[in-house]
Amino acid sequence: MASTEEIPVIDPHDYCDFICRGEGQANVVIGAKHKETGVRCVWRIGKIRKTRYISVQPNCEIIGDYMKKIITPLLGSRYLSEMRLVKFDIMDVQNLGKLVRMPENTLIKDFEFFTKVSPNVSALRLMDILNMENGDYKQNADSDYLVAFQMIDATELPPVVMGGTLNPIITIEIKPKQGFYQQHEGIDINLCQTCIYTMEKVYDQEKFSRLSHFCPIRLYSGDYTQTAATLSALFMEPHRNLKIFMNGNVIHSDEIHIKDEEMTKKLFPNGNAEKDDLIQALAFLLTDSSSIENFNLHPKSVLHRIVTAQKIDQIGLIKAHEIYNKLSPDEQELFMDKKRLSDIGLEGIVGEPISKNSSIHALNKYFLAATIKDCSVMISLRLLNNLPSGKVDSMIELPNGKMFQYITKIVDLDPKDARNLISGYKRFTAGVRLYKEHHEEITAQGYHFNCNI
Ligand SMILES: Nc1ncnc2c1ncn2[C@@H]1O[C@H](COP(=O)(O)OP(=O)(O)O)[C@@H](O)[C@H]1O
Ligand SMILES: [Mg+2]
Ligand SMILES: [Zn+2]
Repeated sequence: MASTEEIPVIDPHDYCDFICRGEGQANVVIGAKHKETGVRCVWRIGKIRKTRYISVQPNCEIIGDYMKKIITPLLGSRYLSEMRLVKFDIMDVQNLGKLVRMPENTLIKDFEFFTKVSPNVSALRLMDILNMENGDYKQNADSDYLVAFQMIDATELPPVVMGGTLNPIITIEIKPKQGFYQQHEGIDINLCQTCIYTMEKVYDQEKFSRLSHFCPIRLYSGDYTQTAATLSALFMEPHRNLKIFMNGNVIHSDEIHIKDEEMTKKLFPNGNAEKDDLIQALAFLLTDSSSIENFNLHPKSVLHRIVTAQKIDQIGLIKAHEIYNKLSPDEQELFMDKKRLSDIGLEGIVGEPISKNSSIHALNKYFLAATIKDCSVMISLRLLNNLPSGKVDSMIELPNGKMFQYITKIVDLDPKDARNLISGYKRFTAGVRLYKEHHEEITAQGYHFNCNI
């Protein structure tokens, strides 16, 4: 890993057209266009989970190491984008951080604009950067720079040479979640992990007002009808598992909601394709299928790679929690360390257990799989009106002749620690209880009761 001195410094003045692409629990992602090259990139900047503010001591080195040593060899590089460590003058991040708290899709053309906005609105607090000394603010000595990741902007596609105007780029971001069914001891309902979490989200935290009928087991099923149906359900009720961008602006999510009957018009304002074409293209691209007849979860597909890696976990959430609970406090502490898996190395995690302690070995595998159960897939597509005159790297043609240029990326592959297991266990057990309590209402809504298909 490069030492901090070797990490290149980014001057945001070299960029324009800043936009916040997204914010998760642990990161904010800001996009910008290089003034000279015209290339768009994003910067992924770490947050403190508890405070939701940008962290002045991000753990980028740990994440970078985990990507290099564990995730890239495990998933292969085909669907991953390079995460380059960069650093910023910390006051530049204070300025950029103002974008995070502005309304969704706000585009700021010129970096200078930020300097005129109050520092108080930033997602990076001044008080985390500056120290009060004798009534004057002084910058903390060791925090002149802030390290982040620079990546390609997954809402972009390379240009194509075509006659006529180009159609907009549609980006579908899906959290595919856990794609295989695990039976848990003592759990007597047949819903998969994600569907149980859905119950908790709707009936406990009231995060979402309506149930989502999206079920990952159906998404990964290799059955065209099931996959297309569950994608349709996801479009109708995205919760936190779907976001649709158009030319980089979010147009559909849990917050910005397009009604199903208006979806086609929004996605294809020129009327040259329909929502169902997009759903079919997605079903094909996620599974590497080229027709309904040969539809299957093909081995090189993004979903196949993901579920294969997820299956490294052979115990599941409930058992993992039970094992964790029985560990000594010192052993438990080891699982709070996000460096743990990188230190062990991929071979050590997935190979035969060296020590006799096979339950620790099983837990290591659980935590590795937890990363892959929580990633996002971003697929950008552009409808092509006719065959482009130049070469297009990736193109898909549907049975009805519609053609899309596309690119597929997996993002959000950070290491997980015990906190993730503890909160997951709480949500899961609450979900099971709430499913039973609300059983009648859930049944009346036509919700499926068996994910173990
Ligand atoms: N390479 C990328 N290009 C464009 N948008 C991205 C990229 N990576 C992440 N995003 C957007 O930023 C959001 C937050 O990033 P993510 O890595 O998921 O953070 P977290 O770890 O906090 O969940 C994503 O849900 C996605 O919408
Ligand atoms: Mg995320
Ligand atoms: Zn399910």
